[in-house]
Amino acid sequence: MARIAYLECTKCGERLSADQPRNVCPKDGGVLYVRYDLAHVKSSFTRQSLAGRVASMWRYADVLPDAAPVTLGEGFTPMLPSREFAGVYIKDEGLNPTGSFKARGLSAGVTMAKHFGLKKLAIPSAGNAASALAAYAAAAGIEAHIFMPKDVPLANRVECESYGAHVTLVNGLISDCARMVAERKDKEGWFDVSTLKEPYRVEGKKTMGYEVAEQLGWRLPQGIIYPTGGGVGLLGMWKAFDEMEELGWIGPERPQMITVQASGCAPIVRAWDAGTATSEFWSNATTLAAGLRVPKAYGDYLILDILKKSGGAALAVSDEEIMAAVRHWAMVEGVFAAPEGAASLVAYQKLRERGFFGPNDSVVLFNTGSGLKYLDVIGGHSEAAPPPASRQIGGIIGPY
Ligand SMILES: Cc1ncc(COP(=O)(O)O)c(C=O)c1O
Ligand SMILES: [Zn+2]
Repeated sequence: MARIAYLECTKCGERLSADQPRNVCPKDGGVLYVRYDLAHVKSSFTRQSLAGRVASMWRYADVLPDAAPVTLGEGFTPMLPSREFAGVYIKDEGLNPTGSFKARGLSAGVTMAKHFGLKKLAIPSAGNAASALAAYAAAAGIEAHIFMPKDVPLANRVECESYGAHVTLVNGLISDCARMVAERKDKEGWFDVSTLKEPYRVEGKKTMGYEVAEQLGWRLPQGIIYPTGGGVGLLGMWKAFDEMEELGWIGPERPQMITVQASGCAPIVRAWDAGTATSEFWSNATTLAAGLRVPKAYGDYLILDILKKSGGAALAVSDEEIMAAVRHWAMVEGVFAAPEGAASLVAYQKLRERGFFGPNDSVVLFNTGSGLKYLDVIGGHSEAAPPPASRQIGGIIGPY
């Protein structure tokens, strides 16, 4: 594993030591990124050195913090060639522990929390990050204090309680949850592991970028479509591409990075369309894709910069389109996706219609979670889950 050289502020470039737990840049609140001495790592960490390594995100341990991993087997998820579109792949993050890509970030985050001897972690979450924290905290023997909207998908709440986390259901959005954590953390002795307010979750998420490259034989795709809430997955992958270039694994080429959001909460799309460098708080956010209900991303300046640098795009899709896509993917691909993930399919279809992507372009669509975590949401939505081939016979529901 790599010794961290320093933490770097993504706003002012300030360098801070990584010998103590840190949240954001003390000067300007900028997101802190972990920097390694890649010139040194490069001598032993080669593409070939990956052969035979563990099939989890820790196969990239040489570019992850030097600490004993708290792992439940996260990462190295399938890259499924689409059965519908040539050149399209579905990166299925639903197979992670706790059923979403959030496992990667929290595995890395809790690894470092344990390394620093932290005893109490707090998180505001749209749902999946909460259950991921709860699981890794349980594995590490650390307390998890969770604040999530009271209408999160049921699975997340049941999971958190099962893992023994302290759960507060909030009558509001993730932004209200974040405020509560901020107000109480000092008094309660909690360390805040909010999205992008500590430097290690993005390190876990970046392994998705390494996997995209490795699983596609070190040829990056033309495009990557990512359902974006706080945007950590997108930032992480971009960081991975820069690191891989420094390691000499890839050249300067980059995929076009695409943000997809729900039309009921699309602050990044609005900022992208307006051409601004940061986003405005989205009032009255509402969408069935709970993970996309993030009215203001802390790292919005980083997301928008990446979209621009990569020649990417940001687009919004409706809940109706998302729910139809959940059903479509299930029936055509055999992939039962989270609504957030299914949004990637809608975005791809729209970008093909617009001619943004052509039929020969390779594009990776991220399914960020499993539909099994949304049975109450998907099952309650008639368009996505009609009872077409079921009827009730004497109390038993069965096919005709
Ligand atoms: C299934 C799912 N997809 C996507 C997202 C958005 O992720 P990010 O905050 O990294 O943009 C979330 C966030 O909760 C999620 O749970
Ligand atoms: Zn700074």
